[in-house]
Amino acid sequence: MTPFITFEGIEGVGKSTLVQATAKHLAKANIRYCLTREPGGTPFAEQLRAVLLAHHDERILPATETLLMFAARAQHVANVIKPSLTAGVWVLSDRYTDASFAYQGAGRGVDMAVIEHLAGFSQAGCVPDLTFLLVAPVALALQRAKKRAVLDRFESEQLAFFERVQDHYLQRAALEPGRFCVIDATLRLSDVQAIAFDRMKSL
Ligand code: TMP
Repeated sequence: MTPFITFEGIEGVGKSTLVQATAKHLAKANIRYCLTREPGGTPFAEQLRAVLLAHHDERILPATETLLMFAARAQHVANVIKPSLTAGVWVLSDRYTDASFAYQGAGRGVDMAVIEHLAGFSQAGCVPDLTFLLVAPVALALQRAKKRAVLDRFESEQLAFFERVQDHYLQRAALEPGRFCVIDATLRLSDVQAIAFDRMKSL
């Protein structure tokens, strides 16, 4: 199967810029790719994304948020990720299951064993071959993220939440050094991209 690459990191680290640059890099090499994102990536999952990111008067329980993330993921895996990989198309996903462990598990305090179980239930064996994790001092990243005009439900969280999220991402990366490529997001954009493209040569 063709490579499945995911991009992770807290808000404001330049993740989406790296996703776009990676897509251009593949296009230049005449490689067929599918650029997608989570939560989202299918019409139904994009509707779940809108619900998940919006502010609500009613308190959204961590359990509800987790189940909706995985509901969106099940659609995304079955209708986009798996068919693309089977058809010989590379998949670039702006976030995937590592985000559920980091945000719902470490961030919201949902039992990691429950997340592990939901991952097995919804992923149909689709595990990334390579995961880029962009890291930066949390305060710096948030300063960048909070410049956005309207903050969504996640972007409105406090610094301590994102500290937990980034720490957990780093723990996961340390456990799976073969899959993760951790990149210092404070480097120049061209250096960030050079590190990423170099790592892709090993795929
Ligand atoms: P984005 O910032 O990459 O557009 O992602 C939207 C938000 O969704 C982001 O704040 C992280 C959050 N998220 C989770 O909390 N759990 C997940 O499993 C995923 C995929 C995203």
